[in-house]
Amino acid sequence: MEVKQLKLIYFSPTGTTQKVLESIAQGITVRDAEHINLTLPERAQQIIPPFSNELVIIGAPVYGGRLPVEAVNRFKQLRATKTLAILIVVYGNREFEDALLELKNLAIELGFNPVAGGAFIGEHSFATEDVPIANGRPDGADVQIAVDLGAKIKDKIRSLQSADAQKDLKIPGRFPYAAGGARAMAISPVTKEDTCTVCGTCSSVCPTAAISINESVATEIDLCIRCSACIKNCSTGARVWEDGTMKSIANWLNENCSIRKEPQIFGIDV
Ligand SMILES: Cc1cc2nc3c(=O)[nH]c(=O)nc-3n(C[C@H](O)[C@H](O)[C@H](O)COP(=O)(O)O)c2cc1C
Ligand code: SF4
Ligand code: SF4
Repeated sequence: MEVKQLKLIYFSPTGTTQKVLESIAQGITVRDAEHINLTLPERAQQIIPPFSNELVIIGAPVYGGRLPVEAVNRFKQLRATKTLAILIVVYGNREFEDALLELKNLAIELGFNPVAGGAFIGEHSFATEDVPIANGRPDGADVQIAVDLGAKIKDKIRSLQSADAQKDLKIPGRFPYAAGGARAMAISPVTKEDTCTVCGTCSSVCPTAAISINESVATEIDLCIRCSACIKNCSTGARVWEDGTMKSIANWLNENCSIRKEPQIFGIDV
């Protein structure tokens, strides 16, 4: 089989998942890969035609060892007929636990046929310059692994007579899922009014429309999924975590998850 058309489908609040998918796409070398970015709330409403004989890469971050609930909800609108799919999760150098298995099971339920999988490392959503956790990842070495993966998947697909020839992809994880996913915490980042310019960027990148802008920035904490997109996109540093629990979690991750992990690939000989 030849890969003629490539579609990248992702939920990626702080952009690391998107970067990994783009790097894999670079290795597949199909012109004009289409992006189906399901991160923002309005994008989640878009009508997506069913998939058939294209190749897709589906990606999401790991939240509490599982997929983010918002990613699952957005992916659930996808429909496919045996469409070959590369499945990718990106995690913050702690663990990915059951997330990739969850993505595989969901992809099959939606009609995709998983051909390869990968767990990559991205800068942790809770990381800052002062409390680094996998800062700067995916870095050059990760990107190279992703590009090489894309090239190898292209070769694997070439060797298949049809999509049916791809049989069950083995993915680590436990089912019933043992990881509980992101805990509901009813907290959100806060805005430092002295440095906030009320530019609205934080509101425009929030995947759950939790932030509204009038004379100042208001956040509906029940909607916040702690993705930290508002913090990482605020150019004045006005958006921060002040909550003590969040600071303790970041410090714990910094102290206990600093040994570099490497991407893991499934379904392809590396
Ligand atoms: C609520 C929440 C829970 C997370 N849970 C995990 C986890 O269980 N393991 C891990 O290694 N990283 C975890 N992370 C970090 C993200 O998986 C990581 O930063 C990822 O690169 C973010 O992807 P994105 O840039 O596409 O948003 C979590 C992040 C958030 C916001
Ligand atoms: S992005 Fe930062 S400066 Fe802009 S409105 Fe939000 S908190 Fe204020
Ligand atoms: S308010 Fe919460 S959900 Fe919205 S961008 Fe910030 S951390 Fe993410």
